[in-house]
Amino acid sequence: MLYDSIFARSFSHHELKKMRCGAFFGGLVLGFFICIYFTPYHGPLPFGVTTRAKSSRIVCHFTEPESDFCEMHGDTRILGNSSTIFLPHFSVADMFTKNNWPRIKPYARKTDEGAMQHVRKFKFSQEMPRCTQNHSVPAVLFSIGGYTENYFHSFSDVVIPLYTTTRKFKGQVQFLLADKNVSWTTKFEVVLKKLSNYEAIDIDKDEGVHCFPSMIIGLKKHKDLSIDPLNSPDYSMTNFREFLRSSYYLKREYAIKLGSKGKKRPRLLIISRKRTRTFMNENEIVTMGQNLGFDVVLAEARSNISEFSQLVNSCDVLMGVHGAGLTNIVFLPKNAVLIQVLPFGDFEWIARTFFEDPSKTMNLRYLEYKISEKESSMIQKYSLDDEVFKNPPSVAEKGWSYFKSMYLDNQNVKLDVCRFRATLVEALRMLSM
Ligand SMILES: *[C@@H]1O[C@H](CO)[C@@H](O)[C@H](O)[C@H]1NC(C)=O
Ligand SMILES: *[C@@H]1O[C@H](CO)[C@@H](O)[C@H](O)[C@H]1NC(C)=O
Ligand SMILES: *[C@@H]1O[C@H](CO)[C@@H](O)[C@H](O)[C@H]1NC(C)=O
Ligand SMILES: *[C@@H]1O[C@H](CO)[C@@H](O)[C@H](O)[C@H]1NC(C)=O
Repeated sequence: MLYDSIFARSFSHHELKKMRCGAFFGGLVLGFFICIYFTPYHGPLPFGVTTRAKSSRIVCHFTEPESDFCEMHGDTRILGNSSTIFLPHFSVADMFTKNNWPRIKPYARKTDEGAMQHVRKFKFSQEMPRCTQNHSVPAVLFSIGGYTENYFHSFSDVVIPLYTTTRKFKGQVQFLLADKNVSWTTKFEVVLKKLSNYEAIDIDKDEGVHCFPSMIIGLKKHKDLSIDPLNSPDYSMTNFREFLRSSYYLKREYAIKLGSKGKKRPRLLIISRKRTRTFMNENEIVTMGQNLGFDVVLAEARSNISEFSQLVNSCDVLMGVHGAGLTNIVFLPKNAVLIQVLPFGDFEWIARTFFEDPSKTMNLRYLEYKISEKESSMIQKYSLDDEVFKNPPSVAEKGWSYFKSMYLDNQNVKLDVCRFRATLVEALRMLSM
């Protein structure tokens, strides 16, 4: 259900750009103001205040495209049940009246209202409540609300940003979770434990005042399902995938190289979907893959990541219809091939942004297969003259929910295996290079 948000967002790409400007000049008046005020001194940082106590310093970023985040060095306290962060020794109050204090939602999809309405908002205060618990390590506060019910969003909005923001602490960091969901923390337990040596604190209802020597609120993110080298010089997608490989004990660093010694067969994983965008002729695809020399595995993406990542890592080619299951490419070995099958319709921007571009930052090879009218289940309902076939842009113009119901929720795929064969042959060729 929430997965639709991906499309909703990309769909209204142009509107989104407008919204960003709106957010910049509207809701974030403070960020804008400070930006002007401090730019000469702090370069690109929109908000920088050095304080009375020389060691206390806060830098907030409110003009980044995907997320707002603040870094505070010095006595920082938090009372979870009132969503308040206390900065008793920071002299920002000298400059701003109380009403101007920023509020922050620590989830990395800031212009998407659908996501952000499920994210707790935190405020700042200069009061000095008594500490009920002193911590010696920095805190990182982030939300797992938003769209994290969806697997793609879990990686894109939380896991990858969490990695780039906190890996440098080498485990010496306390996570504070807002909008905690136990099924999510159980699912991603391995990653959370690998990044922090401390049990995460469920902050929403916490009645204690936790005190920290420093704190980061929010996670840094620049692109979906990838790490932008320009904005994250210390960690790349290669590092992140290495991190996953060691966290989940994945054996293979490289995909098979065909033509080298040994007679092993390449492995093809077909991601099966059961509710929407299903393959209607899975058996036929399996047989064709086998005839081309693949060991074929047909599997539905499972929620136990420890198990499913092993399966994915054992394969050399992963194919599937566009959808969240393709997020599993993060576990493929280097040089493996992703084949993204696009349903009929106007999917180019979506396909490129969410899987093609990210796959290229992961040392993977990418192939795309666009189905024809005849391979779409829509052929059973509409004639070839219908606008759904003749004029996909006009369907898109009728709005997101119409587009979604036509092309995403009510379209299955019957691959023409003769036509598709060339794509698999190309995958084999890539594996021999
Ligand atoms: C926390 O540290 C402060 C300053 O060192 C001290 O006054 C306070 O008693 C400590 N609180 C707890 C609960 O340990
Ligand atoms: C937690 O996540 C699960 C699955 O992602 C969802 O079904 C459930 O409603 C969520 N619980 C809360 C309290 O949000
Ligand atoms: C938060 O917890 C404190 C106890 O530390 C309590 O006094 C206060 O009423 C609580 N606030 C809310 C909004 O629940
Ligand atoms: C996932 O599967 C592994 C191995 O079968 C098991 O040890 C682990 O507890 C499972 N994890 C979850 C979150 O269910």
